[in-house]
Amino acid sequence: MEIDVTGVPIEAVDADTFALAIPDPADPLPAEVEGLWTLVASGEAPTQRGSARLVHVDGRRVLGAGVGPRAEVDADAIRDAAAGAARELQASVGGSVAWILDPALLAPEEQARAVIEGAVLGGYDPGAWKTQNDRPLIERLTLVSEVDVGETARQAGVVAEWTNHARDLANRPANDLTPVELAEHAAGIAARFDTLTSSGLGPEEMLVRGMGAILAVGQGSQNEPRMILMRYEPTWPTQPDLVLGLVGKGMTFDTGGISLKKRDYMEDMKGDMAGGGAVIAAMGAIAELGLPVRAIAVVGAAENMPGGSSYRPGDILTAMNGKTIEVTDTDAEGRIVLADALAYAREEGATHLLDLATLTGAMERALGDFYAGVFGNDAAWRDQVVAAGEASGDHAWPWPMHPRYGRFIESAFADMKNHNIRAQGIPVYAAEFLREFAGEGPWAHIDMAGTGFLTWSRGDYLSQKGGTGYGVRLIAELAARLSA
Ligand code: BES
Ligand code: ZN
Ligand code: ZN
Repeated sequence: MEIDVTGVPIEAVDADTFALAIPDPADPLPAEVEGLWTLVASGEAPTQRGSARLVHVDGRRVLGAGVGPRAEVDADAIRDAAAGAARELQASVGGSVAWILDPALLAPEEQARAVIEGAVLGGYDPGAWKTQNDRPLIERLTLVSEVDVGETARQAGVVAEWTNHARDLANRPANDLTPVELAEHAAGIAARFDTLTSSGLGPEEMLVRGMGAILAVGQGSQNEPRMILMRYEPTWPTQPDLVLGLVGKGMTFDTGGISLKKRDYMEDMKGDMAGGGAVIAAMGAIAELGLPVRAIAVVGAAENMPGGSSYRPGDILTAMNGKTIEVTDTDAEGRIVLADALAYAREEGATHLLDLATLTGAMERALGDFYAGVFGNDAAWRDQVVAAGEASGDHAWPWPMHPRYGRFIESAFADMKNHNIRAQGIPVYAAEFLREFAGEGPWAHIDMAGTGFLTWSRGDYLSQKGGTGYGVRLIAELAARLSA
């Protein structure tokens, strides 16, 4: 979708369709689409959030997009309206659309960003594997605004497209997207930018570096694990001593291993690499935006399978930082892979760590599909992550950490165990486990088990099941703030 911005007057704008958000109660409409007012006044135009209707008024094709109660209009409401509009257009005529911003609804920059995100994310189709799948696409989205929102729109377009890129990765099945494939995909992205490089460690190199944790998780699969490292070096970083270290869980499939999962919904575990996919796509976004912040990404990619060579409950592993882990549940594999990934990111120079992982089903049960949970060893850094999430639409809520939870991972045999049968505070002790590998300096952890991959549509602008691209917008916002 091509995105551009133009000033008023509306009659000078060339587009197949004119679209605008309609709150309840509605505003008087711009003269050019005044004819729509009759529909609004008679209650026929949609005001309900996310609903949209295409009509012809005064010789123009006009799309009214409901945004819900005026008093409740926020960026998410605008995203829902734009998504509803995108779906309506893609179910009918596609083509070019001019969206008339209404300064009375939300600040122009925030509104521009939300319209673009809503249209790009709301128009996403996860059915790439359907053999018959033609539908008219929206070719161009023009924002009509009195205030110049050109730069905001450009950035929002880039970030939204990379968010859909992350959704594509999460939706790819495990017979297609293996750890090796994911590493090659990251390399393909890096090849597009002079500022970006990518490499991947295989089992032999992992052995040399003492990465006994990811090696154990990956040993049960025919598909070899990879430790992916991407590096972004801008010419003039604003803070030369700061290196943002993004770490992602990249399980291309999680059967649970010997501690096998139940059968229902297991197909969704192709999305257990959503954190890693988000980190890889976010590096693409950072590079395309040319943000002046140094960044690396480490993705621990592996497949967790049961078999004759799988790791087992009772196994004791040694991670890259020398700490030992007693495995008490092979399905708590994400934290094991992240143990080596976090240590590797520190070794490669990360000063500020942020990991993203579909880590615990308990987080999904606690916060559902809208908020992720955030933990950290440094309140200021954690709060920066929370703020970037709130501003970006990737909502995240702070969770506590406390050394007292450490007893949940005490092992009789090793430095720690990876699972506690008492099942209390599961997301919290998982974070306590990760802290052991985060080294010195600020670290935050996002458990996105509920937000990364939807079993059911969320019913809002993310109207499709499957990958959400959660984390790409948050990371881009965080990186932009660190660039300032
Ligand atoms: N990948 C799962 C977590 C998950 C569950 C993500 C549902 C998305 C939706 C993770 O590896 C896992 O299996 N975690 C266990 C941890 C437990 C054994 C401590 C879980 O949540 O049951
Ligand atoms: Zn698991
Ligand atoms: Zn998992």
